[in-house]
Amino acid sequence: MEVFECVSTLSSIRSYQQKQVPDEVVREVLEAGRLAPSAHNDQPWEFILIKDQSALSDMKRYCVSGSFITQVDFAIVVVTDPSSKWHEIDSTRAVQNMVLTAWNHKLGSCWIGRLEKKGLMEYLNIPKELNVLTVLPFGYFDERLIDTVKFRRDPDQVFHLDSYGSRLTSNL
Ligand SMILES: Cc1cc2nc3c(=O)[nH]c(=O)nc-3n(C[C@H](O)[C@H](O)[C@H](O)COP(=O)(O)O)c2cc1C
Repeated sequence: MEVFECVSTLSSIRSYQQKQVPDEVVREVLEAGRLAPSAHNDQPWEFILIKDQSALSDMKRYCVSGSFITQVDFAIVVVTDPSSKWHEIDSTRAVQNMVLTAWNHKLGSCWIGRLEKKGLMEYLNIPKELNVLTVLPFGYFDERLIDTVKFRRDPDQVFHLDSYGSRLTSNL
């Protein structure tokens, strides 16, 4: 898929099909995260691949706003290192790399934001000095579920030309 097509069609998916994802695709998604850019090239991230179905079921209790974690083929827990100043910004770029790479393979995902972090970190043996940014579920989905309309602010509410308040849209 061409990059802008990928960006402009990407949608959060919250309902998944029970279908196995080939290992090489899982690997490519992980690689997309590992290859992300970061401030000072700190790479303040680690990724825990969760493939075990009973672990995915157990994790539902920590994924407060992502009960759909139980439906997916795999999930990636994004662990960041707070000793690096921009750890969450850098790791968010890794997340976007991963979800776009997955989308290119017709795999959906959704950022799970509300986590019971303490319990999740204990469950996954994550050292206390680290942080969990998000849990990303990945799986195939019914393409009819994709929103054809993107609910975004209008271009003339967000674009400016040369200075704040000068509208761009009438000039391009
Ligand atoms: C930081 C962040 C946190 C989010 N947390 C959740 C969440 O906890 N549960 C959920 O279902 N969606 C979550 N989302 C997905 C957003 O609701 C979604 O991206 C937004 O509504 C736009 O929809 P779209 O991704 O389909 O274009 C989150 C997205 C971001 C970027």
